[in-house]
Amino acid sequence: MKRLDEHEARQDTRIMDILETTKGSPFDARFDPVKGGGAQRLHMIRESFIREMTRLAITHSAINLSQGFPDFDPPREAIEAAHQALESGGNQYTITWGTPPLRQAIAAKMQRWYGLDFDPDQHITVTCGVTEAILATLMGIINTDDEVIVIEPYHEGYLPAIVFAGGVPRFVPLESPDYALDLDVLRAAFNSRTRAILINTPHNPTGHIFTREELEGIAELCQEFNVVAVTDEIYEHIIYDGHPHIPLAAIPGMAERTVTISGLGKTFAMTGWRLGHACALNPLSTILRTVHDFMTICAPAPLQAACAAVLSLPDEYYTKLRADYTERRDKMMSIVTKAGFTAHSPEGAFYVMADFSGWDFDGNDYSFARWLPANLGVAVVPGSCFYGTKGMGKKTVRFAFAKKMETLQAAEDRLCR
Ligand SMILES: Cc1ncc(COP(=O)(O)O)c(C=O)c1O
Repeated sequence: MKRLDEHEARQDTRIMDILETTKGSPFDARFDPVKGGGAQRLHMIRESFIREMTRLAITHSAINLSQGFPDFDPPREAIEAAHQALESGGNQYTITWGTPPLRQAIAAKMQRWYGLDFDPDQHITVTCGVTEAILATLMGIINTDDEVIVIEPYHEGYLPAIVFAGGVPRFVPLESPDYALDLDVLRAAFNSRTRAILINTPHNPTGHIFTREELEGIAELCQEFNVVAVTDEIYEHIIYDGHPHIPLAAIPGMAERTVTISGLGKTFAMTGWRLGHACALNPLSTILRTVHDFMTICAPAPLQAACAAVLSLPDEYYTKLRADYTERRDKMMSIVTKAGFTAHSPEGAFYVMADFSGWDFDGNDYSFARWLPANLGVAVVPGSCFYGTKGMGKKTVRFAFAKKMETLQAAEDRLCR
C-alpha cells in the first residue's frame, strides 16, 4: 500500500511538470482565450512527443525508429480493393457504424480467432482508428471526475482521451525488467470512483502480453467494482515465441462489460488509413455509437471496402506476419544490445524499451532522444512520455522496429559504429 501512496504522490508532481511545459504556450490555460490559449481541459496536455520526434527525424534526415508505423506497404489486395472502390462509386458517407461487409468481416474475425460472438448489426462499430474508438467509448461512459485506471507505461493517446472525456487518470505501473502486472497494486487503485480501466495487450511500449492469470485478476476487480474494461488490442497479431493473445472479453463475466477495440493499421501496414473498430454488447455498443456518429460520422468509405477484403486473407498472411516481425524483433534486440543498451525482449507489438544507463551520456531521456538523431542519425522516443508518474522512464528510450530489414541494418550501422 505504501508503494502505491508514494506512486500517487509522484503522479501529482508529474502533472505539475506537464503544467510547466505548457506555461506560456498556446496550451497554457491561463492565457486570455481571445489573445490565444485553449480550454482549461487542455492544461494537462501538450502536443504528441512521438510526432515531434518524427519531425525531428525529418529535420536531421535520421532513420525514424520513433513513431510506430511500418516503412513498407499494405498487402496488394488492399490497395487494389481501394482502387476498385474509388472507381465504383464508393465515395460517399457509409452507414455511421461502418459498411455491412466490413462489420461482417470483423464479426467473422472475432469468432474465428477468439470464439467471441458479436452481431455486426448491433455490436460492431468501424471507427477512424483505435484512437477514435477509445475516445468515443470514454466520452460515452465517463462522467466528470470519474477515475480511469491506466496501466503505465501507456500509449500517449490515453491521457488526452481521458481528459477530453472529463475523467481523471489513475496510474498503475508495470515495473521493469519483466513488466508483469502486480494485482495487489492494481487492487489498491480501484475504488468507488473507478468507472473504467484501459488495458492494452500486446502492450506498447513494453511488449508485455497480459497472461490469463493477469486478465482474470483484472476481470475479478472489474466485476467487484462494477467497472467497464476498454481494451486496446491493436497489436493482437504481432506476437512472438508462441505467446497467446487473449482478449479480456473472453474471460468469464467480461463479455458484457468490455469494449474490445482494435484496428487494421498495424496488422496490415496501413496506419495512415485510419481504420479501427470497437466491439461491445449493449448498452455499451449503443453508447459509443452515439458519440462516434457525431464525432466523425463514418470512417473513410473506399478504405472500408478495401479492409473488408484484407480481413479475408488466409492464415498464411498471419503466419508470415509473425515470422517477419520475429526476424525484425531479433534484429532490433541484437542492435540495442550491441549498441550498449539494456532491454527486455518484447513478447508482442513492435517496440523495444531500451535503458541507456550504459552510455556515457549526461542527461535525461528527453535530451538523449534529442541528441541521438542530431548526432548519430537515429530517432527514438523518450521513455518518460509513456508515464504519468514523475521520474519513471527517465533512463529509457523506445525503438520502433516495424521497418524493412535494410532500414534496421542502416540503424545498426549508425548506432554501433
Ligand atoms: C497501443 C496503441 N493504441 C493505439 C494506437 C493508435 O491507433 P490508430 O492509429 O488506429 O488510431 C497506437 C499507435 O501507435 C498504439 O500503439
